[in-house]
Amino acid sequence: MEIKRIIVAIDGPASSGKSTTAKRLAKKLNCIYVDSGAMYRAVALFLLQNKIDFIDKKLLRKALSEINIEIVPSKGQGENKIILNGVDVSKMIREPEITDYSSTIATESLIRQRMVELQRKMAETQSIVMDGRDIGTVVFPQADFKFFLVASIDERARRRWQENQQKGLGTKTPDEIKHELAFRDKRDSTRKIAPLKKAKDAIEIDTTNLSIQQQVDEIFGIIKDEIFL
Ligand code: DC
Repeated sequence: MEIKRIIVAIDGPASSGKSTTAKRLAKKLNCIYVDSGAMYRAVALFLLQNKIDFIDKKLLRKALSEINIEIVPSKGQGENKIILNGVDVSKMIREPEITDYSSTIATESLIRQRMVELQRKMAETQSIVMDGRDIGTVVFPQADFKFFLVASIDERARRRWQENQQKGLGTKTPDEIKHELAFRDKRDSTRKIAPLKKAKDAIEIDTTNLSIQQQVDEIFGIIKDEIFL
């Protein structure tokens, strides 16, 4: 059955289950998935690698004109590849230093403007599921569907800890992770520009006690009811 082009925005704090849910949802809807956080991470990496102080607007403008970010969709259940100026940085952008710095540089308006421009371009010709912090509020205020995922900080820390263990990055305790998450959430939700915030018309889903499959089923059910009428 042919469905019209749709935009699904999924926002929420770190480790609320956005990315995994958005990825699986995109697969079910047969459309592309974009992890907007990965784009901010790629910018953070570029600025660090090139020792560019983002406070210097002139340097930052030049840097932004030199940054080329490509998102290569995965085949099957794998991760999207993030290509920064021709180099696959998918792993590097997940380093703790980049996690923290991406939230810092995401407060800068020139960077946000550029990212929003790229994100809107990606949705011009195709259906898309995009996750992030400002997708339903700023990037696509007219999105067909908006979801805001939340979960308790303890559960989010537990998930991040478990993920780290699976990836062999298990040096931090759940408590340390909890503090880092709380710190990053605060910075993301109190910044002046495009803070992490639930759009008025977004559907809030508390994932604390839900499995990924249950989250996907719930969101897919809501979308399906509307588009497959
Ligand atoms: O989703 P993530 O944890 O990979 O995102 C990394 C950082 O990027 C996050 O702390 C804040 C920033 N970000 C943002 O400001 N706006 C978005 N739409 C996505 C991410």
